[in-house]
Amino acid sequence: MQIIVCKDYEEMSRKAAELAAVSIRDNPEALVSFPGGDTPVGMVHAFAEMVNEEKVDISKASYVSLDEWVGLSNSDEGSCGLFNRENLINRLHKPFARMHLINGAAEDIQQERKALDEFIQTYGPLDVSVLGIGMNGHLGFNEDGVDFNLNAHIIPLSETTKQVMTKYFGEKFHPEYGISQGIRQIMAAKKVILIANGAHKAEILKLAVKGEVTNRVPASVLQNHPNCYVVVDQAAAAML
Ligand code: GLP
Repeated sequence: MQIIVCKDYEEMSRKAAELAAVSIRDNPEALVSFPGGDTPVGMVHAFAEMVNEEKVDISKASYVSLDEWVGLSNSDEGSCGLFNRENLINRLHKPFARMHLINGAAEDIQQERKALDEFIQTYGPLDVSVLGIGMNGHLGFNEDGVDFNLNAHIIPLSETTKQVMTKYFGEKFHPEYGISQGIRQIMAAKKVILIANGAHKAEILKLAVKGEVTNRVPASVLQNHPNCYVVVDQAAAAML
């Protein structure tokens, strides 16, 4: 793991966007994946700005979303799909060659899972996977106890995630499951960039980066990734 401690959120965001852009410059037909949540807002905006300033050409690249709340569609408040649309798609002056956003409200969620696998199978493996970290160490919705060998799957949300999720959509939705790329697909990415900011992430980040590799802290698996960057602000890095 290469740990990059940035002075603040803005620097973390720019650094992660730049690392993602390098992957696309290396392979114009790259498959890229960004997470949803609070952490990546600045990174995604910085990336869109780089595209618009023609610092990186995404016209041949593909995009796939990391995860989604089961039951939420791409237009529901707090969904990862809406995050992608508002923070990425709507900001881009030129689109990706193709995009696959997970529809958590699909009638046949197993079919949706298959479609996610098929997209990654067809256009992958991922050239770059940007990830946030949950308060319990989850990656996407790979919750504690997850099987590291899984591809895309549907998984019950942990109690920690259920407590945290109200910050995205209050009491409006009560999802019980998440749909997510699996650890197998994340570990197959040519480059992984884990981003985290704020003092509230310091403890779980320490467990993920310095602790034992265990599915109790899913992000710890990244210690075994050959090309993983951990890009964090000073507050999140406090215990490293
Ligand atoms: C969410 C998502 C993850 C995200 C993580 C951290 O539940 N499933 O993809 O990376 O939790 O979110 P945040 O950046 O808001 O702390």
